[in-house]
Amino acid sequence: LNAVSLQNGSSPGNETVGESSFYSKPEKVEPTISITVVGASGDLAKKKIFPALFALFYEACLPKHFTIFGYARSKMSDEELRNMISRTLTCRIDKRENCGDKMDEFLQRCFYHAGQYTSEEDFLELHRKLKEKEIGRLPNRLFYLSIPPNIFVDVVRCASRRASSESGWTRVIVEKPFGRDSESSGELTRCLKQYLTEDQIFRIDHYLGKELVENLSVLRFSNLVFEPLWSRNCIRNVQLIFSEDFGTEGRGGYFDNYGIIRDIMQNHLLQILALFAMETPVTLEAEDIRNEKVKVLRSMRQLVLDDVIVGQYKGHTKGAKSYPAYIDDPTVPKDSLTPTFAAAALFIDNARWDGVPFLMKAGKALHTKRAEIRVQFRHVPGNLYKRNFGTDLDKATNELVLRVQPDEAIYLKINNKVPGLGMRLDRSDLNLLYKARYTKEIPDAYERLLLDAIEGERRLFIRSDELDAAWKLFTPVLTELEEKKIAPELYPYGSRGPIGAHYLAAKHNVRWG
Ligand code: NDP
Ligand code: BG6
Repeated sequence: LNAVSLQNGSSPGNETVGESSFYSKPEKVEPTISITVVGASGDLAKKKIFPALFALFYEACLPKHFTIFGYARSKMSDEELRNMISRTLTCRIDKRENCGDKMDEFLQRCFYHAGQYTSEEDFLELHRKLKEKEIGRLPNRLFYLSIPPNIFVDVVRCASRRASSESGWTRVIVEKPFGRDSESSGELTRCLKQYLTEDQIFRIDHYLGKELVENLSVLRFSNLVFEPLWSRNCIRNVQLIFSEDFGTEGRGGYFDNYGIIRDIMQNHLLQILALFAMETPVTLEAEDIRNEKVKVLRSMRQLVLDDVIVGQYKGHTKGAKSYPAYIDDPTVPKDSLTPTFAAAALFIDNARWDGVPFLMKAGKALHTKRAEIRVQFRHVPGNLYKRNFGTDLDKATNELVLRVQPDEAIYLKINNKVPGLGMRLDRSDLNLLYKARYTKEIPDAYERLLLDAIEGERRLFIRSDELDAAWKLFTPVLTELEEKKIAPELYPYGSRGPIGAHYLAAKHNVRWG
């Protein structure tokens, strides 16, 4: 079987659904979707995927006919899978409402099949079970690969050969990491494309499903006030900040092979940067948006070692409580040089952004949890109010902040006259705090992305040329860091991170927000 036959829907057995005779009117066959979560016993499946599927079901966003299958090696009955996932389902959509009945209804549509990831036989068995549920309907199939990356290709091979839809579509959601550098990522893409077409591959970056990230284009392209400011003419620097107030807890084994640059910067922060900086797309169609993202990524300068600093958290005791170092994790080698913190200065060599530093900062085990985009504007020329601000004009510049999480908000720092007889100025915020403005809870990123994959909307998924462009920017510096064995600057767990991040910003005339 090859990618083309998959798209046409031919696959093992090749029976057609809903065939009509020459004389009878063709019967309208209703579609059904079978969603298989591969790696169903794992952390991501329990924490995010099943709860997101339930939330979609609860909101009546899933198609009328659907079945969910968990697939993993662990032995489990359908009932055991239901028990396992029921623990993480919540009625978060409306906390006052008792959604017990809905949960039962949802769980009755969840099943489990135990199998090996490399066994075509086991996937054929899954195929038979899926078929039983799909009888009389047009079957569409979605596979979610919630498994470690070293088995992505095996699973895609087995699933595409033995369990793809015979007459509907088959799509596969692939989780990050998509390789660890240009070469391995290219190899992964090449292998996946032996079995799937690009259209069938949905590479997920869950930051693209976050409300504020999706809102970036709306903010820019539907508000006259922002777009004219959106260039080197008015913007001094842009900061993309990710910080977590906990360490790699439980994921040290995975993390040590990747580090923070690959885990957060090359994907989540770079995706935000691309949406922030791209030109206006021709339409809102997926290909038009992704074309613009690729264009801006390809206009970027390769990152160099001089513009990167790395850090790693060390143990720290505060009062009676002590916090572990990264290397205290039993799955991490004691001499690990893997960065848990990094800061980098990136540049886009095009007419719009020439000379504007895009600073990224990402770290684990810091003092706070937040993800933000901060846009610092230029100084007001010939500032009339110099006297009120002293010589520190940075303090007087406007700053637009998009707080992706927690407490989603968009606020603009402005200078304002303090009411009264004198002429005293202060910094105030024009503040759009989501929870004050909107009553409805914001959906989890995985809900939006799952729904898009079900509906075949590719706008928020990464195309292979985007991925290549992203890796090209980071691969040389990642190789250099590893070859030169650059030691990360240690910072205490729960601190603001290494001081080097401030020197890097200062080198580019920037102060972190
Ligand atoms: P897990 O390590 O929990 O693995 C998922 C399942 O895969 C396990 O339950 C296990 O199932 C099977 N598995 C684990 N290790 C191996 C192995 N070495 N060989 C074969 N099978 C194995 O992963 P997560 O659920 O944390 O993550 C899944 C994917 O999602 C990964 O690619 C990860 O990078 C990505 N991701 C995870 C996030 C998270 O928060 N967890 C966030 C973003 C991305 P069994 O033994 O039953 O077969
Ligand atoms: C994942 C990273 O992609 O994103 C994790 O692998 C990180 O290391 C997580 O913790 C953060 O996601 P969120 O949605 O909790 O900010």
